Amino acid sequence: MAFLLTKLASLPSVLCLLTFLFWEVAGADGVPAIYVFGDSTADVGNNNYLPGSTAKANFPHNGVDFPAKRPTGRFSNGYNGIDFLAMHIGFKRSPPPFLSIASKIHHRIVSGIKGVNFASGGSGILDSTGDTMSTTNQIENFATVRSNMTSHLSEMQADQLLSKSIFIISTGGNDIFDYFLQNNAPNVTEKEKFITTLVSTYKYHLEKLYNLGARKFGMVDVPPIGCCPFPRSLSPTGGCLDVLNELSLQFNKATMALMHELSLTLKGMKYSIGSSNAVVSNIIRSPATIGIKETKTACCGGGKFNGELSCTPNASFCSERNRYLFWDKLHPTHAASKLAGLAIYGGSPEFASPINFKQLVEEDD
Ligand SMILES: *[C@@H]1O[C@H](CO)[C@@H](O)[C@H](O)[C@H]1NC(C)=O
Ligand SMILES: *[C@@H]1O[C@H](CO)[C@@H](O)[C@H](O)[C@H]1NC(C)=O
Ligand SMILES: *[C@@H]1O[C@H](CO)[C@@H](O)[C@H](O)[C@H]1NC(C)=O
Repeated sequence: MAFLLTKLASLPSVLCLLTFLFWEVAGADGVPAIYVFGDSTADVGNNNYLPGSTAKANFPHNGVDFPAKRPTGRFSNGYNGIDFLAMHIGFKRSPPPFLSIASKIHHRIVSGIKGVNFASGGSGILDSTGDTMSTTNQIENFATVRSNMTSHLSEMQADQLLSKSIFIISTGGNDIFDYFLQNNAPNVTEKEKFITTLVSTYKYHLEKLYNLGARKFGMVDVPPIGCCPFPRSLSPTGGCLDVLNELSLQFNKATMALMHELSLTLKGMKYSIGSSNAVVSNIIRSPATIGIKETKTACCGGGKFNGELSCTPNASFCSERNRYLFWDKLHPTHAASKLAGLAIYGGSPEFASPINFKQLVEEDD
């Protein structure tokens, strides 16, 4: 870290801020920064800044259990899974949304070095998924942040910083939803073709991040999205929509193979895949053992399973929020996200493989 301090000492206007920053870095177990990419499972408020976006959560009852009951844009009653992962890694919560810092110069410099969240609710791996910041846009934004960093650090210093940082990516679910809305009964060949396209696009994005300096990838897989209250509300029997769950499993399996392949070809690349699929499946299978009592109906929303209407200020919401798996028609509660964070950070290979996030943090670079 000495190299950074020396270099940054030549920037008097931001020195105080940065000195403070280094104390925090020291507490963060050697991880200088987290960079987050993905969809609403990871968004902490980027969509608040997108006037045209319909995928927003910066209003009550979202945030009812966040400090000061603040609706931040997180699709949760409190924190989301990325916040909990960030806490385990040694930070207070997720880094701030890219769009909240993009216009503030001091924040830009500090945030570039300390971490930024680029995730945007509604987005997917494919550019055609959603109408918000696509993964392509998110990576372009990271490239800008990185190039601004190198106006204050040498390329080598930036590379060192990034190689110790964790790149968290939580995406794929919206691509599967979108595909399902176009074809709700794909045959085997169609499913394979779709997954192949999805994973080869994922590969392209990950290589791009690697070329920009990312080395430690903390991936989060796709949960059994067919069991969310919204798909359940579409099912005549009220059961999970199997096609969505099958596509999720197929995608997760293909991602595992992809990451293994990339780790063999990209020098110095390390990864962990956290399985939100395993976490949610376990909660659905045996909720009582971990204090959850409701796994079908969302806490906040309306209609069947509270899955037909979104969680708006008009919607009703439950009081026992720490006993629900789902907060709204598509997203987990603070309580479920906390369990996921715990399992993915320090859990067994069922929940994170080939190593867990803690081991990824501790790997030497
Ligand atoms: C990067 O730096 C340039 C020049 O200082 C500035 O105009 C731009 O807004 C910055 N972008 C980001 C994303 O920090
Ligand atoms: C799957 O559906 C496509 C049409 O979308 C069709 O051409 C193909 O023959 C089908 N394959 C199988 C194995 O049924
Ligand atoms: C919410 O309630 C207000 C006032 O009660 C009403 O004007 C508005 O249309 C409702 N919005 C929705 C989305 O139901």
